[in-house]
Amino acid sequence: MHLTIIAGARPNFVKIAPIIHAISHHNDQDAAKIDFCLVHTGQHYDEKMSGSFFKDLNIPLPDVNLNVGSHSHAEQTAKIMVAFEKHLMNQPTDCVLVVGDVNSTMACAIVAKKLGVKVVHVEGGLRSRDMRMPEEINRLLTDSITDYFFTTSALADTNLLNEGVTADRVFMVGNTMIDSLVSSLDKAVMPKVEHDIATAEYILLTLHRPSNVDDAHKLETLIETIDRVASGVKVLFPIHPRTASKLTNIERFDNIEFLSPLPYLEFLYLMKNAKAVVTDSGGIQEETTYLKVPCLTLRENTERPETIEIGSNQLIGNDLVALEKSLTAILSGNWKKGEVPPLWDGNASKRIVDHLAQLFN
Ligand code: UD1
Repeated sequence: MHLTIIAGARPNFVKIAPIIHAISHHNDQDAAKIDFCLVHTGQHYDEKMSGSFFKDLNIPLPDVNLNVGSHSHAEQTAKIMVAFEKHLMNQPTDCVLVVGDVNSTMACAIVAKKLGVKVVHVEGGLRSRDMRMPEEINRLLTDSITDYFFTTSALADTNLLNEGVTADRVFMVGNTMIDSLVSSLDKAVMPKVEHDIATAEYILLTLHRPSNVDDAHKLETLIETIDRVASGVKVLFPIHPRTASKLTNIERFDNIEFLSPLPYLEFLYLMKNAKAVVTDSGGIQEETTYLKVPCLTLRENTERPETIEIGSNQLIGNDLVALEKSLTAILSGNWKKGEVPPLWDGNASKRIVDHLAQLFN
């Protein structure tokens, strides 16, 4: 079979890497070979948001880069569609595999479906029920035209079945982001930062959701609060470019050390050894759950509720009082330990490749 794999934004690279490794392993087993073409849409393009991930995750450079870059949602989506349609018409495939919920995911799924190519969605079925999130729109549109779903949780399966998807198209396989985590944990690299992370505690902070960062005043209030309630514990904050573009005068935050976006293996080191993680990311809620590191999520809802129900995560929303209370509890050692959700065991990608081989051969 021939597969076209799509990646466009930072979390996508982490999700496709183990699938590529599992395909290589499958092909080495003398099974019916799976050929693939890796298409990078260019949604993320900086070395720190893209290139370094290919090195850290040991994946081949993309066969094709559509080089779309940053634009408004409509323009970025449209540019990806136009460029990917040209690619797919020149290089036919049996199946387009998309991951996650970014604009590249939705854009390439639409193009494939309209050209009569089967669409496979890894991480299908997640729902935040919050239509203000661009990712929720991407999830709903992608899943409405997906042929086969590979899911991370039983709840995702239920969501799909409730939307009328037949059970024979849904495969709960686990979490490919956790596959990358499991295979990279012992390769984590201590980043060079000012704070002495080898001996002193620290909190790790990430923020990039438009709802938290696009309004500069709201963003500054949030960072001021975290700066204050950290009560002397250093906060390490690798800044996403969207967030950096809104922040001025960062010297005034005494407790916060601002960092550039980090390579995967360095970020992994910080996450694994953090006293607490404060974030608005989707993937980090899952990774901290696997690592059993306390996580506070600055969102009102999550498409990954198992990280709260059985993991180490808690939703904080915009409630700065709740943030202070929870952070204080974590720093004084009072937090749930959490459990790892079923099938988040490092083998999701192998399951995906086994299913693909059966479905398409
Ligand atoms: C995108 C995804 C989001 C995901 C996030 C991970 C969508 C709708 N959003 O958000 O779901 O969680 O990626 O990071 O697809 N920029 C750079 N260099 C880069 C990439 C971006 O400087 O390599 C800057 C640009 O100014 C750009 C801004 O960051 O306008 C935001 O990038 P964009 O891809 O539009 O969205 P993200 O916020 O990264």
